[in-house]
Amino acid sequence: MKGIILAGGTASRLFPVTISVSKQLLPVYDKPMIYYPLSILMLSKIREVLIITTPRDLSQFQCLLGDGSKLGMSISYKVQENPNGLAEAFILGEEFIGKDSCSLILGDNIFFGQNFSSILANALKIQTGALIFGYYVANPREYGVVEFDENNNVLSLEEKPEKPKSKYAIPGLYFYDNTVVDRVKQQKPSARGELEITDLNRSYLLDGSLKVETLGRGFAWLDTGSPDGLMEASEYVKTIQTRQNHYIACIEEIAAKNNWITKDELIAIGKSYKTKYGEYLISIVEEVF
Ligand code: DAU
Repeated sequence: MKGIILAGGTASRLFPVTISVSKQLLPVYDKPMIYYPLSILMLSKIREVLIITTPRDLSQFQCLLGDGSKLGMSISYKVQENPNGLAEAFILGEEFIGKDSCSLILGDNIFFGQNFSSILANALKIQTGALIFGYYVANPREYGVVEFDENNNVLSLEEKPEKPKSKYAIPGLYFYDNTVVDRVKQQKPSARGELEITDLNRSYLLDGSLKVETLGRGFAWLDTGSPDGLMEASEYVKTIQTRQNHYIACIEEIAAKNNWITKDELIAIGKSYKTKYGEYLISIVEEVF
């Protein structure tokens, strides 16, 4: 399974002025936003990742994460010239995906919850079809929405509907078989000119090969699309980390637990950061190895 992080777009919706910075590089509490979706792919044991971003932001992501070797991973990059829609990721990623299945995660989506690793382990087994998630929210109109019947069969999928048929939003984490590239190639842009992820998911639904798993109330899928959402996400991460003294989305910790980096490498990275984050990395060495 390969992994793609879509990290385009600007932070302009977060500020009253246009600002030339990638939203996914803004901090969520103590680490860049992109660490959170990257950590989800790493927890899924996905070791080959493609980051798709804008021409403007490419060098900043490369500077932050390099070729991934420090994490025992392979990270490559691709530019999306214009925001032509989430599903375009699979056209841009065609060569990267090759004959594999592929997961897509949006660079501004943050997930945290018990048992997520086992949910992800199941997702990884997918050979045919697609797996997406449903999450109960107060404001479904802002998202892709999935409607179920009384037996939990999927009835419909709609993108930002005026009148949502359910309160289940579809978070920005998707798992697809290898037919995904051909499916997107056959897709037409929507009325707003984008290759819609919801149209892609609908093509699997029509085939009878779409699985939707609901994430329960104890699970956090955090919104970073507004100043309040971003602040709340930071506070959430701070609260959990302070209480447990276990970091959320600590990519070096996950790399070490996956046995992708050695004890010495973890210590060296920890020492190179003159911050609390670096101290944390040193503090977990005995626990991890
Ligand atoms: O967050 C989950 C939602 O994400 C889903 O429920 C929706 O079905 C899905 O369409 C998407 O909705 P958003 O309104 O959040 O999409 P947005 O256009 O804001 O794009 C999400 C992120 O992806 C954002 O950080 C910008 C980036 N992006 C977006 C587009 C359209 C790209 O990198 N390239 C693109 O072409």
